[in-house]
This record gives sequence, C-alpha cells and structure tokens, in this order.
Amino acid sequence: MRAEDIPRRVAREHGAAAIAPSLSAFPSSALESPMSSTSQPDASDSSSGLDAAVRERYSEGAQQTTPELCCPVDYDPSLLKVIPSEVIERDYGCGNPSRHLHPGDTVLDLGSGTGKICFIASQVVGAEGRVIGVDMNDDMLEVAERAHPAVAGRIGYDNVEFRKGRIEDLATNRAHVDRWLAANPVRSDRDLAALEDEMRRQRDAAPLVASDSVDAVVSNCVLNLVLPERKRALFDEIFRVLRKGGRAIISDIVSDEDVPDELVRDPELWSGCVSGALREDAFLKAFEDAGFHGIEILERADEAWQTVNGIEFRSLTVRAYKGKQGACLEQGQAVIYKGPWKRVEDDDGHVLERGERMAVCGKTYGLLTSGGYAGQVIGVEPLVPIPEASAGPFACTGNRKRSPRETKGATYTATIAVSTDCCEPGEDCDPEVSCC
Ligand SMILES: C[S@@+](CC[C@H](N)C(=O)[O-])C[C@H]1O[C@@H](n2cnc3c(N)ncnc32)[C@H](O)[C@@H]1O
Repeated sequence: MRAEDIPRRVAREHGAAAIAPSLSAFPSSALESPMSSTSQPDASDSSSGLDAAVRERYSEGAQQTTPELCCPVDYDPSLLKVIPSEVIERDYGCGNPSRHLHPGDTVLDLGSGTGKICFIASQVVGAEGRVIGVDMNDDMLEVAERAHPAVAGRIGYDNVEFRKGRIEDLATNRAHVDRWLAANPVRSDRDLAALEDEMRRQRDAAPLVASDSVDAVVSNCVLNLVLPERKRALFDEIFRVLRKGGRAIISDIVSDEDVPDELVRDPELWSGCVSGALREDAFLKAFEDAGFHGIEILERADEAWQTVNGIEFRSLTVRAYKGKQGACLEQGQAVIYKGPWKRVEDDDGHVLERGERMAVCGKTYGLLTSGGYAGQVIGVEPLVPIPEASAGPFACTGNRKRSPRETKGATYTATIAVSTDCCEPGEDCDPEVSCC
C-alpha cells in the first residue's frame, strides 16, 4: 500500500466515525481524508474527490503529454539542451521562477513534476548549489528520476535530488510511509495508531525538508492544486523551510475574481490548475499572513490563460522574503526613501516619507537596504557605529525621524574644508577622491 492510498482504504475499513478522532490528532496533511481538516469543515466537504482527481490527472500527465495542462512559457533554450525530451514534453508549468535564482543557492522546487525546473535550476545555481524537488506523485517522480543521471552526466555534476512528499506538509517523508506500510499494513485502529506514531517519529527525527534549510523555494503551477483547507499550512511550510533571508519565488495561476463553489468542486477544472487558483490579491496576502515581507509581483501575464464564466485565470510570479522576525535593536541608523511615491509602508508597518530620514532598528535597516527593498532607500549609518552586542532595544512606537545631529552625535563640531589637492598622474593618491 502506498501512502497516497491510505485514506480511502482506512475510511472504507473503519468508517468515518471510527477514524476521525485519531486523524484529528495529526496534521491534516499527514493522512488524507475528506474529514481530516477540523478547522474548515465546509471547505473540506466541498473538496472531497479533488485530491484523487489531481493524482489521476498527473499520473496520466507523467505518462503522456497532456496539452490542455500546458501553458506556454519562455525558458532559456540553452538550459533546455541537456534535458531529455520526455521531461520537456511533459512540462505543466505556467511561469519560470528559475530566472530569479542565483549561483550557490540551495533550492526547493514544490511540485517538481517531471523535473524541468529542477534541471534548469541545477544549471543556474551551479555545482556549488543544490536543488531538491518534492512531488507526491510516483509517476511524476519516476520520469524525473529517469532523466536525472542523463542531466547530471551532460552538465558534469549532480546537485539534484527528488523526494516524495506533500508540499503542504514538508516534514513527512512519503517514501518512508510507503516503506513502513509495506511492512506494517493498516488493518485496525491499533495499526493506524502505530502508523501515526511512526509518522510523528519520522517528522521529528528526520523531516523531509528541515526548517531554515533552504535559500529559495520555487514552484511552478502547483500551489493552486493544494486543497483550500490546506493552503494556509502550505504557506506556513514554505516559510518554515526557508532560512532567514531566504525567498520564495512562486509562479502560479491566479484568478481576478472569487471562484464560485460549483467551479471549485469541479474535479476537471480543479486538477487542470484552474479552479483552485487564489484570487490574485489573496495570493499576495497569503504570503503576508505567513510572515513574509518584501512581497512583489515579478511577472503577470497580460492575457488570461483561461477564462471560465467570465473569470480570468492567468499566470503570476511572486517573490517574497523571510526574515522580518527578530529583535529590534537601536543601532542609530536611518533610511531615506528615494521616491517616486510620496510615502510607502513596509510589511512591518514602517511608513517612509520620501526624502525624510526615518529612524529604524538594526534589523529593519538590514531588510530595507537589501533583498526585496534594495535600491528603494538610502541607508544612513551613525558616525560612530553601535555594534549589535552593545545595542539597546529600539523604541518601536510610531514612525520617528532621525535628525542628522543624532546620526553624527551631539558633540560633532567638525569643519572640513574643500580639498584642493590634485592627484596628478604618477602620484600616490586616488584620482577618484580628488576634486581635480
Ligand atoms: C501542474 S503540474 C506542474 C509540474 C511542474 N512544476 C512543472 O512545471 O511542470 C503539478 C505537479 O504538482 C504535483 N502536486 C500537486 N499537488 C501536490 C501536493 N499537494 N504535494 C506535492 N505535489 C503535488 C503533481 O503531482 C504534479 O506533478
């Protein structure tokens, strides 16, 4: 028995009432069952059957090209050369998050399918980087694993691995569950409790993806397939596995209006990456709710990929950073927002007025002068640096300006005349700092 077969069989053998209490002790994603979510029973009711539809659709999609799942994407042809054709042909992405990766990154690809984004990312991050693809579908993983040695042979190094898991529960190792179930079939409530224990043990001892371990989480057209009642857990998991300062770069299908229930319940539309789409503003808000900052739309398709009953579904690529959590220390810094907007607000509620020196704590200074906000503000350091070890707490009350006098220190009375020294050719001086 494979992990993905558990819920239906268990439900058949024991009936819902018998297993619901023990399942509710588990993360909803650890055992999949129509009644596994206790927090949003309505959403769970309307989503029964959708998970199976996703499995069946992508098992077929792994075995043969399914044109209606394809959404045209421009990939860099030079990075496709090393990838076997069966991977390229069974590509069901809707964007290209790998464009935003850097050499040396450790990357996690959610819903890696036949592995195309992993194999592209593998070349972008180079031999110093690493790529982990996670998918729940054995048929998809099989195609990816088949292509894996060929790609490694052609690029001259192997930095990719594929793991079986559900992206809304990146701790549970589904291959481990499969192996355990093969040796310990579930035939009774007692067996089920043993399975639950084993899964808990595995999650604690060796999570499929460890917390704070990844530089970049990417995904291409998969988040929409996660059931409504598990979407919150999905964003929390993306946040968990990223290291501080890491980023999520997600391409997905979003809608311009709410998707009505009857479309959500349609297994064909759901598994076809349509009706599970979040409304585009809710998609960004989901990152915010999970604790991300610097959330930005990198790409948004002008044209809808599909339109159903007047609702437009299009591809969107978003980047979001992890790292705004932590202590606020007073290190004497300020930032000046460059414009062009009159004022802006960050994800921590700091309001920056154009051209004003706004006082910020050391952590916010770091965030606003790098990552997603880089280039938007000018950082102003105090004349005498205040190291973190000796910094006191920053008064995070309201938005305060930092006077130049505070930056330089109350006792600063220097007078520095314009330099008239010229740096002539052949002289031991720096022409860059000379006024000549
Ligand atoms: C539309 S395909 C995209 C595949 C790949 N990212 C690409 O660009 O070709 C969706 C993939 O996500 C996988 N998938 C769907 N829901 C998943 C989940 N909850 N956990 C893990 N994988 C999932 C499917 O098995 C399938 O391989």
